[in-house]
Amino acid sequence: MIHVEGNAPTFGGNAGMSSQYLEVRGLTVSFDGFKANTDVDLTLMQGDLRFLIGPNGAGKTTLIDAITGLVPATGSVTKSGVELLGKKVHQIARLGVGRTFQTASIFEQLTVLQNLDIAAGSGRKWTTMLAKRKSVSAEIEEALDTIGLADVRDKPAGILAHGQKQWLEIGMLLVQNADVLLLDEPVAGMSHDEREQTGELLRRIGGERTVVVVEHDMDFMRAFATSVTVLAGGKILSEGTVAEVQADPKVQEVYLGTAAAGEELEQIAEEGESNA
Ligand SMILES: Nc1ncnc2c1ncn2[C@@H]1O[C@H](COP(=O)(O)OP(=O)(O)OP(=O)(O)O)[C@@H](O)[C@H]1O
Ligand SMILES: [Mg+2]
Repeated sequence: MIHVEGNAPTFGGNAGMSSQYLEVRGLTVSFDGFKANTDVDLTLMQGDLRFLIGPNGAGKTTLIDAITGLVPATGSVTKSGVELLGKKVHQIARLGVGRTFQTASIFEQLTVLQNLDIAAGSGRKWTTMLAKRKSVSAEIEEALDTIGLADVRDKPAGILAHGQKQWLEIGMLLVQNADVLLLDEPVAGMSHDEREQTGELLRRIGGERTVVVVEHDMDFMRAFATSVTVLAGGKILSEGTVAEVQADPKVQEVYLGTAAAGEELEQIAEEGESNA
């Protein structure tokens, strides 16, 4: 059992304590007539640690792309009442919606600190950011502590372990003041210990934010999700607690029907049976 200090994420988020954070309605994304997302509705509250699962090609990454302005979509995505659809990528980022990609996107030659500096200081000059600085802003110090990279702040990001690179990316979202974090397979390729540490990191940051984790690792999901949304064929198939989703026959069917999804899906079905 992992002890969580402060505002740990809870099922349904801090409903009632804050206004809705991200509301997706009727979101549809078409690529030359092929619908990668169809009429997706999703409500995410502050304090929710939502896992977004589904077979390969289900439309998980596309959904994140649409929310963050990378692909055109129809429908509506509002953050605390502000419409995001139609805005540019940088405007959406500035409104506090941050995301990571399936492949890490840090500057390998620059130090951990410089990476955070660049993420934090969109307005500052490169030369100022790259100069060795004696003082580090409080927000960057805090992010370094949160992501556990304070000791390696002056190391080039390229030499970090795989897990640490992902944590740096999360840190970069934190210093950008993102309060909606959309993380695309953040623990892919990580060791067991790195996964545990990442889960704890997500809990630490999740209490005051809205965190969506796209993931194929069902053990990881079971350990850390406060709620789960299942996408299949671009549509929402199921939503609820881990137990509810695992017990949902529709979820079992879609997973068992997908050879590529393999073990993870069998696992879901087995869990569902034992929970039923
Ligand atoms: N730019 C694009 N043009 C055409 N089709 C696309 C494009 N991007 C994604 N697709 C298609 O949309 C569907 C959903 O893809 P998406 O990447 O969102 O799936 P995913 O759920 O993230 O899968 P994975 O678990 O493999 O990452 C797939 O059929 C994919 O081939
Ligand atoms: Mg994907």
